Amino acid sequence: MPVQPTREDKFSFGLWTVGWQARDPFGDATRAALDPIEAVHKLAEVGAYGITFHDDDLVPFGADAHTRDGIIANFKKALDETGLIVPMVTTNLFTHPVFKDGGFTSNDRSVRRYALRKVMRQMDLGAELGAQTLVLWGGREGAEYDVAKDIRAALDRYAEALNLLAQYSEDRGYGLRFAIEPKPNEPRGDILLPTAGHAIAFVNDLERPELFGINPEVGHEQMSNLNFAQGIAQALWHKKLFHIDLNGQHGPKFDQDLVFGHGDLLNAFALVDLLEFGGPQGAPAYDGPRHFDYKPSRTEDYDGVWESARANIRMYLLLKERAQAFRADPAVQEALAASGVAELNTPTLQAGETYQDLLADRSAFEDFNPDAAGERGYGFVKLHQLAIDHVLKAN
Ligand code: GCO
Ligand code: MN
Ligand code: MN
Repeated sequence: MPVQPTREDKFSFGLWTVGWQARDPFGDATRAALDPIEAVHKLAEVGAYGITFHDDDLVPFGADAHTRDGIIANFKKALDETGLIVPMVTTNLFTHPVFKDGGFTSNDRSVRRYALRKVMRQMDLGAELGAQTLVLWGGREGAEYDVAKDIRAALDRYAEALNLLAQYSEDRGYGLRFAIEPKPNEPRGDILLPTAGHAIAFVNDLERPELFGINPEVGHEQMSNLNFAQGIAQALWHKKLFHIDLNGQHGPKFDQDLVFGHGDLLNAFALVDLLEFGGPQGAPAYDGPRHFDYKPSRTEDYDGVWESARANIRMYLLLKERAQAFRADPAVQEALAASGVAELNTPTLQAGETYQDLLADRSAFEDFNPDAAGERGYGFVKLHQLAIDHVLKAN
């Protein structure tokens, strides 16, 4: 199967994904630590164009300035050697006990001030490495106990933090765009901005909404039993899809972080079809990084880690090829027309037509036959089966 990735595919991976040592709440690490330099080289080999990281993924928490400088210099060297870029950076505001009640929204004000400084430091590094996007995943911004967190005050503090960070980026000329990553729960019992919809509504109320978008993750929306491809379509509609975390999940349960497409395959097909061919005249609807945020399963050794990294890319490219074949198939085009899919693009009123005109149009109501219109079959099942035939390469 010819599925060779190129730089134009814009595949990127978090350093924390392939570097996950597979420690979980019940068991110890099953893999040794991964040297970030090796990660850069291996990811370049598997076909990534970019690597992303939390501050603490690269420089261990609490490292002194000399150690930090050395690590960053070596990392830059590896980037130069491989041509890998850093399209996005993010900040760890969840591992250290100081963040047990959150970063930007901790009840403790001194923790909130510390969180801001930690993010600003990572923005400095991100800008130095050419990152264009700062992702903010507020995994600890939440609560277990309703009475222990004033949610409206927490949202005030969240907005205060984001407004300040945007100001900092603009003043320093970093030009960063900010992408909030929604998640309903885990590690907190309930997390603020739990879904793409909540996050879009929130960022639109910030001081500089144009600098803020979202970074939705497949599994996070599916943990809430939501349709990911449809959520992405809405994010695109709002022009808020700033970044994306691709992985796999089997419905509402703990965050599985499987390989992309290893969960809901048909929704993954719809997603790739949308991202790659959902723009005007079949152009891509999204041109940012295709970022994999998965966890190589705990059962895997390092051969399995690199195999699973390749599997993410392979799944994406296979689905892209399948979506292309689906779109090109005359039988599909016929079925799409029979289902009226393109007809939805026609405005319901004509240009210049008013509601008075609509009221005067007897064919719209008085002479309209709802019973006859109600008899129409839409042929959606046939169309869906054609999609599955293409996914399975059965035609
Ligand atoms: C998770 C999240 C994280 C974030 C990362 C980037 O559920 O653990 O998906 O992996 O994506 O922290 O900010
Ligand atoms: Mn996740
Ligand atoms: Mn993620």
